[in-house]
Amino acid sequence: MCGIVGYVGPRPSQDILLAGLARLEYRGYDSAGIAVIDENGSLGMRKKAGKLAMLRDSLTDAALADGTTGIGHTRWATHGGPTDVNAHPHLADDDKLAVIHNGIIENFAALRDELAAEGVSFRSETDTEVAAALLGREYAKSGDLQQAFRNVVNRLEGAFTLLAMHQDQPGLVVGARRNSPLVIGLGDGENFLGSDVAAFVEHTRKALAIGQDQIVAITPSEVTVTDFDGVVVEAQPFDVSWDAAAAEKGGWSSFMAKEVAEQPEAVANTIRGRIQDGQVVIPELDGLDDLLIGINRVIITACGTASYAALVGKYAVEQWARVPVDVELAHEFRYRDPVIGDDTLVVSISQSGETMDTLMAVKYARERGARTLSICNTQGATIPRESDAVVYTHAGPEVAVASTKAFSAQITALLLLGLHMGRVRGTASDAAADVAELQALPEKVAQVLAEENDHVAQLAGWMADTRSVLFLGRHVGYPIALEGALKLKEISYIHAEGFAAGELKHGPIALIEPGQPVFVLVPSPRHSALIHSKVVSNIQEIRARGARVIVVAEEGDAAVLPYADEVIRIPLAGALFEPVLAVVPLQIFAMALATAKGLDVDQPRNLAKSVTVE
Ligand code: AGP
Repeated sequence: MCGIVGYVGPRPSQDILLAGLARLEYRGYDSAGIAVIDENGSLGMRKKAGKLAMLRDSLTDAALADGTTGIGHTRWATHGGPTDVNAHPHLADDDKLAVIHNGIIENFAALRDELAAEGVSFRSETDTEVAAALLGREYAKSGDLQQAFRNVVNRLEGAFTLLAMHQDQPGLVVGARRNSPLVIGLGDGENFLGSDVAAFVEHTRKALAIGQDQIVAITPSEVTVTDFDGVVVEAQPFDVSWDAAAAEKGGWSSFMAKEVAEQPEAVANTIRGRIQDGQVVIPELDGLDDLLIGINRVIITACGTASYAALVGKYAVEQWARVPVDVELAHEFRYRDPVIGDDTLVVSISQSGETMDTLMAVKYARERGARTLSICNTQGATIPRESDAVVYTHAGPEVAVASTKAFSAQITALLLLGLHMGRVRGTASDAAADVAELQALPEKVAQVLAEENDHVAQLAGWMADTRSVLFLGRHVGYPIALEGALKLKEISYIHAEGFAAGELKHGPIALIEPGQPVFVLVPSPRHSALIHSKVVSNIQEIRARGARVIVVAEEGDAAVLPYADEVIRIPLAGALFEPVLAVVPLQIFAMALATAKGLDVDQPRNLAKSVTVE
């Protein structure tokens, strides 16, 4: 949830820290702060409630002495509200020591009581300050930051990434991680730490991934990774596959607008390299045929938007691989006693690869003997490292909190997985047609963007005062209805609900009153005249009660025309491929409506891009 950056090297660190924080601000943006050891060896610190701009303004108004060792933090509040005092860094040892933290220290109350009994007083309500105070106490004993840091992390329970530095040891930043992200950036005579590679990608694309329960110490010339006992371990090197420009707005009004527009490329990149001789072959799943043949059950687990992709995946994997698939919200999964074993494949989906709920579900599945596969968009992230196999979506960095291109890439990856499993299990029948559908997807997404963008944006402009919007879908249209509603809630703060169209008459139809806007996702009649006719009946039912109906239907579907107030068209596509097209107008709608309301579409209130607390 929070963004963390650390730097040691020859350059003044403040600009490096602030630029890193700007790239990490999507992770949390209710306060920000930096600490720097200046040229005289004094530790200076500045932190401010509000977005990073507030911190920048404060530094412009009153400069902080610069230095070549520094740490920075952008926060999503857990313990204590978003105030100046609760913002990070937190200081200890007579303000000579600074600590920043992402995660939750679950035993902080007991530690605080222990320290309070020794006479330590606290300025903030945060769990982080307790860790800082503990580090101060340990440092006082040994005068060795690395030793003191080890002592502290061994006392902490919960999930954390912790970074610390002490003015008496300039040129050294230490970090640790448990169930929370931290990566190392390797520069030339300088080194970096970051919650993800975005923190340092403009300086280096060479990175090291740190494992669970490991500690790193960086100096300008050295990087040492150990376990919590101080035993040196090897960190896994990787090259960042995108450059700084990919994480820039590049002339777009928002990251979300850019990412919506990047979907043809995101889908194409996810497919690339995964079709061989007219069939889907995912190279990362090489050698896993016996596993994929042997399983009797698939559980797909994820949260939020990724869980809606999972629901589409259920249709695809069941249809092509003929294996039962359940979709489980990750945060519910491990709090019951699910029937899983070594014949179960648990597929997790996560854009960030750091979502704590999903990570815990993966760990739980492994403990219970299941095989695990993750679908992830972020290299070096924790969830893929905890899984037996990974299929990366290659959507590129997604910065806007509202997920768009990652969602279409996740569905694409699930389509690929379904077809790959269907081939291996000998159950998919028409590979050539399905591969042709896949290959045509990027072009069709581009067509929706080109043909419907202005129309949908205009519609949203007319509806800026709307207080509630409903979304209906059947079959794979149902998850898209859920996603359309989530997008709207997230960024426009308008009440929105998605329903399975058939469920309407069992209760939600009571919500329909004259003028109520309802989006209806109409499946192609070419795939199933029956499903299509049922959805058209549902439209008639709500229309009869005064709903304002906005239909998303394939080109040429004339049956919807008499009942629709507005028709948004998508190109013809196979039944399981339609969701990738149908979601695009809903994303544009949410974005345009939020923009019409004057809201920040990239950083909606109360949210963070990567949810690293349970
Ligand atoms: C999407 O718009 C949301 N911000 C959110 O639901 C997100 O999809 C969810 O938190 C899961 O994130 P992940 O894909 O990084 O695991």
